[in-house]
Amino acid sequence: MAEADRERWDAKHRALGAGTPLPPDALRGRLDLVPSTGRALDVACGRGGVAVWLAARGLDVVAVDVSPAGLAAGAALADDHDVRVRWVEADLDGGFPDEDGTYDLVVCQRFRDPALYPALAAAVAPGGLLVISVRSEVGDEGGRFRAAPGELAAAFGDLEVLAHHEGDGEAYLLARG
Ligand SMILES: C[S@@+](CC[C@H](N)C(=O)[O-])C[C@H]1O[C@@H](n2cnc3c(N)ncnc32)[C@H](O)[C@@H]1O
Repeated sequence: MAEADRERWDAKHRALGAGTPLPPDALRGRLDLVPSTGRALDVACGRGGVAVWLAARGLDVVAVDVSPAGLAAGAALADDHDVRVRWVEADLDGGFPDEDGTYDLVVCQRFRDPALYPALAAAVAPGGLLVISVRSEVGDEGGRFRAAPGELAAAFGDLEVLAHHEGDGEAYLLARG
């Protein structure tokens, strides 16, 4: 990622201020699917609201983002809620960070990089859960940051897909490893 893009993300995160612990949007109404023990990975975690929510639920969480400002907001939120998250600063344009093993839950919310789809699928432990959401062309205008129709279903078709939705410019997929 270009330095200017990283600075733009930093500025966005600083302007938004402290986050709030929240489950991934695609799991609202399906919280029974979320494990309460084991390991979780939050890819492109932003200001850490999901990572902190998962840690408060009892998961051992690794959260990755390119933005130091986002990660700092996440660390402050974790302190406020008295939970521990391992915050990893990494540019995912360079590939998946070199983290050990697989995860009982892999979350990638509102971040799209099709080059990472195979690594995301491989990071899900057998029986683990993948939660991914992206901006979509379906129900909205096209654009290079939006997923084409069927993109998530095609990319993660080797997993057991539990739910898949596209519409209103958003797409999400829930799948078991
Ligand atoms: C739209 S935000 C989503 C944040 C969070 N997942 C959420 O749902 O609130 C996208 C995030 O991706 C991060 N990001 C963008 N490009 C990245 C890259 N190449 N490597 C790592 N993180 C990146 C940004 O810093 C930002 O936090």
